[in-house]
Amino acid sequence: MEYIMSKRPPCVLMFLLVLLRVLGTTDACDCSASTTYCNCVGLNLTSVPQNLLTNTTRLFLKQNQITTLSQSDFSRYRSLKSLDLAYNHISVINSQAFHHLSSLTALWLIHNRLTSLRADMFTGLVKLDTLFIYNNDINDIQAGTFDSTPNLRSLYMYYNKLTTLRADMFTGLGNFKGLYLNNNDITDIQPGTFNQTPLLKNLFLNNNKLTSLKFDMFTGLGNVQGLTLDGNNIMNIQARTFNSTPQLVNLNLENNQIQSLPSNLLVNLLQLGSLKLSHNKMTMFPFEELSDVQTISFLYGHNNKLTTLPSMAYDVFSSISYVNIENNPWQCDCGMVPFKLKMTGSYPFEDQINCSQPDHLTGLKLKNVKLEKLFSECVEPTIVRFERDDSKVSVQGGNLQLVCEASGFPTPDITVIPPSGLNATAESGGRITVEVNGAITITRVTAADAGLYVCIASNPVGSTFAVFSTGVISSRSFPLPVFAGSLCGAVVGTLLIVAIVLTICKTCTRIRSEPPAADPNVVLSTLMPQSQGEGSSTSDD
Ligand SMILES: *[C@@H]1O[C@H](CO)[C@@H](O)[C@H](O)[C@H]1NC(C)=O
Ligand SMILES: *[C@@H]1O[C@H](CO)[C@@H](O)[C@H](O)[C@H]1NC(C)=O
Ligand SMILES: *[C@@H]1O[C@H](CO)[C@@H](O)[C@H](O)[C@H]1NC(C)=O
Ligand SMILES: *[C@@H]1O[C@H](CO)[C@@H](O)[C@H](O)[C@H]1NC(C)=O
Repeated sequence: MEYIMSKRPPCVLMFLLVLLRVLGTTDACDCSASTTYCNCVGLNLTSVPQNLLTNTTRLFLKQNQITTLSQSDFSRYRSLKSLDLAYNHISVINSQAFHHLSSLTALWLIHNRLTSLRADMFTGLVKLDTLFIYNNDINDIQAGTFDSTPNLRSLYMYYNKLTTLRADMFTGLGNFKGLYLNNNDITDIQPGTFNQTPLLKNLFLNNNKLTSLKFDMFTGLGNVQGLTLDGNNIMNIQARTFNSTPQLVNLNLENNQIQSLPSNLLVNLLQLGSLKLSHNKMTMFPFEELSDVQTISFLYGHNNKLTTLPSMAYDVFSSISYVNIENNPWQCDCGMVPFKLKMTGSYPFEDQINCSQPDHLTGLKLKNVKLEKLFSECVEPTIVRFERDDSKVSVQGGNLQLVCEASGFPTPDITVIPPSGLNATAESGGRITVEVNGAITITRVTAADAGLYVCIASNPVGSTFAVFSTGVISSRSFPLPVFAGSLCGAVVGTLLIVAIVLTICKTCTRIRSEPPAADPNVVLSTLMPQSQGEGSSTSDD
C-alpha cells in the first residue's frame, strides 16, 4: 500500500503530462487576458494552438516546429494585429491561411523554409503594413501575390534566392515605401518592375549579382529617395539610368566594379545629398557634373583607381561637408599642379592625398610635396590646329564650327576671344560654346561674328595662342556688303586683337610660328620668336 501510494501519483502525473503534450497543451503559452497578448515562444509546437483567447491581438509563435499553415489555423483569432511565426520550419502556407486576419498589420515569417510566394497566400490581409520574410529560400514571387495587401508599406525580403525581378511581381503595392531585397541573387531587373510602386522611398538591392544598371530599370520610382546598390558586380551603368529617380537623396554604389560613370548620369538628381562610390575601380570622377549638384554633403570616393585631380575637383570637394578620397593611387605630377595651387590646408580632404607615383614621391602627401617637384613632367601648351571644322556642317543651320586643338600636360584650358571681344571658355555658357577638347560652336551666326578669333591655350606652365580669320567663311556665307565690312573689320580687328592678347596673355612665353600646312586661314602670330631647344620656360620666368 505504501509502495503504491508513493509510486502512483507520479505515474498519473506523467501520463497527464504526456496526454497534454500530445493534445498540444497551451498551458505553456503565456497569455494575458487584459493585454490580449500570447507568448508561445520556443515550445516545440508543431501546429498553431487552438485554445487561446479569441480576442488575442498579439501572438508570438516563434521558435517552434510548425511546418504547414492551413486555412483553419487562424480562423479563431480574427482580432490578431501582429503575428510572429519566425524560426519555424514553415514550407507550406495553404491557400487563404490568413484569410480571416483583416486586422493584422505586422507578420513575421523570417527564418522559415518558404520557396515561393503565391497569389493566394496573403488574401485577407487588407491591413498588412509590414511583412518580414527574410531568411527563407524564396526564388519566385508569383504575379499578383501582393494584390490582396494594398496597405503593405514595407517588405523585408533579404537573404532569399530571388534572381530576376519582373514587372508583375509588385503589382498592388500602391502604398509601398520600403523594399529590402538585399542579399538575394538578383542579376536582372526587368523594365516596369517598379511601375506599380510609385510611392517607394527606399530600395535596398545591395549584395546581389547585378552586373549592369540599365536606363529602364528604375522607371516608376519617381519618389525614391534612397537607392542602395552596393556589393553587386556592377561594371556598366547606362546613360539616363537615374533619369526616372529625380527625388534621389542617397545613392550608394560602393563595392562594385565601376570604372567610370556615363556623362550626365547625375544631372537630374537635384536633391542628391550623398553619393557613395568607394571601393570601385574608378579612374575618372564626374567632377564637372558634381559641380552642378549643389546639394551633396557626403561624397565617398575612397579605394578607387583615381590618379589625378583637376583644379575643379578642389572647388567641388571644398563645397561638400564630408569627403573621403583616401586610398587612391595618386600621381603627383604636373597634372596635379592646378589642384595643388588651390590647396590651402583648410580642408580634411587635402590630407587624404598620398602620392603613389612617381617613385621618388611615393608615400608623401601631396600637401607636403613642393610645387617645383610636380613640374618635372609638365609640357607647355602647343596649339596644333585652329581652323574651321569641316567635319561638321558649318554656317548652314546658323552655326559656325571651329576647332582649336591644343596639346600639353596638363591638358591646356582653351579660351576663345571672338570678334566681339567677349571671352568664351568651357565653363562659360552663351552663344559661343567651347568644349574641353577644343571644339568651338558659334550658334545663330550673324554678320558681327565675321572677323578674327583668338584661341588661347594655357596650363600651369605656360600659354600660347593662335588667330583664325573667318574671312573665307564670310565670303561663302554672308552677302557681299557684309563680306566687305568684315574684311575691313578684320584689319582693325587684327590690331585690336594683338593689343588684347598682349595685355591678357602676359604669361605667353612661347608662341608657335609655323602655321599648319595648307590652311591659309590660320594666322599664327609671331610676336615672339621661338627659340629652339630653350629649356623649360615656365610662367615663373
Ligand atoms: C478577452 O477575452 C477574455 C475572455 O472572454 C476577457 O476576460 C478579457 O477581458 C478580454 N480582453 C479584452 C481586452 O477585452
Ligand atoms: C524542445 O525540443 C528540444 C529537442 O527535443 C528539447 O531539448 C527542448 O527541451 C524542448 N523544449 C521544450 C520547451 O519542450
Ligand atoms: C598615407 O600613407 C601612409 C603611409 O603609407 C598611411 O599611414 C596613411 O594611412 C595613408 N593615408 C591615406 C589617407 O591614404
Ligand atoms: C579673358 O580671358 C583672358 C585669358 O584667359 C583672361 O585673362 C581675362 O581675364 C578674361 N576676361 C574676361 C572679361 O573674362
